[in-house]
Amino acid sequence: MAARVIGAEHVTDAAQRGRRMIEVMPGDIVTATARESADRLKIALVDGPVERPRVLETDGATAARRSLYRRNPKWTTPQQRPGSSATRLTRLALVGAGGVGASVAHMAANAEIAEEIVLIDVVPGLAESIALDLNHAAGITRSGTRVTGGTALSLVEGAHVVVVTAGRPRTPGMSRADLLQINRRVIQSVAEAVRTSAPGAIVIVVTNPLDEMTVEMLRATQFPRAQVIGMAGTLDSSRFRKALADKAGVPVGDVEAITLGSHGDEMAPIVSRARIRGRMLGDFLDDAAIQSCVEDAVTGGGQVVALRKTGSAALAPAHAIIEIIDHIRGARSGPVPVSVMMDGEYGIDGVVLGVPCNLGLGGLIDVVEIPLSEAEQVQLKTAGDAIRKRLE
Ligand code: 2OP
Repeated sequence: MAARVIGAEHVTDAAQRGRRMIEVMPGDIVTATARESADRLKIALVDGPVERPRVLETDGATAARRSLYRRNPKWTTPQQRPGSSATRLTRLALVGAGGVGASVAHMAANAEIAEEIVLIDVVPGLAESIALDLNHAAGITRSGTRVTGGTALSLVEGAHVVVVTAGRPRTPGMSRADLLQINRRVIQSVAEAVRTSAPGAIVIVVTNPLDEMTVEMLRATQFPRAQVIGMAGTLDSSRFRKALADKAGVPVGDVEAITLGSHGDEMAPIVSRARIRGRMLGDFLDDAAIQSCVEDAVTGGGQVVALRKTGSAALAPAHAIIEIIDHIRGARSGPVPVSVMMDGEYGIDGVVLGVPCNLGLGGLIDVVEIPLSEAEQVQLKTAGDAIRKRLE
């Protein structure tokens, strides 16, 4: 990085963004007025590069993640496994070929994470057209994944993983919960097909309202909880990490943070366990800045809906789904936040909630109970109560 002259305006800008420190790299020049402003605005001028705390340095790239989980006895170092040790799914079914379904198909075909991908959508020709389009790209991508499409739900037959994005998306001004009655029927018919044609499948529910639809899928399939997983935490955590990185002015790879709770207003971005370069958020950001990142995570999906007018986010949700599939097939390991039926963990029972989980080829392995602040524990419980109430 080229040496910079750090002036008073840089300090004022950092203060306005809620930052608590400016990293002064070797060769940077800090003007006298910058030092005065920093003093006045309580911004620390820290000699860079800011080191990670010593204890984490020994553990390489996964060190910060470890700080999230290290007090858990069941903790194992999360890590990206080499592609060769991961299982390739035999058949991946995508129910719903809208933006999310099509993006998942695209990414999954490129990465050849399944031998076969089948897209299913009620709109005649839609799933088939995406399949054809992707097959046309195979001469360039050289992907060996067979992609097909159709309208019949029975096409889920024999799938190892079924991703359900079918249903109405939000329009501006709608909350996810507003979709409950409309999408419940969609989930019920998909569940019926999965139960009959793919009874061993792991179902990843993406249709909103996410937590409620995951409960609905469990009820309608009668599957054990290990087989039904809601996708929310991976997406919301990604939004939270990016917001924190942008606020703190650091690369997003330096941020570790997760969100738990519901995929809605009761979302719980976990500030107490979040780290930037292995340090507590408070070392980098003031309370207002942290709060605005929390709000960004909670409202991120709505921000995309407001811009698009029709339809919701597609690309980040697709990445979040692939992240879950990679945990299932062993391309990634370590706990990942997903929505599952609670069975007494965190003192909560009988409702679907986003919590850190270990996943494997059979779906949920276990829920990981990480230490939370008292307020965060309450947030989780409140989320569970709100979801339960909406389902009544
Ligand atoms: C989102 O948060 C689609 O609910 C999804 O963008």
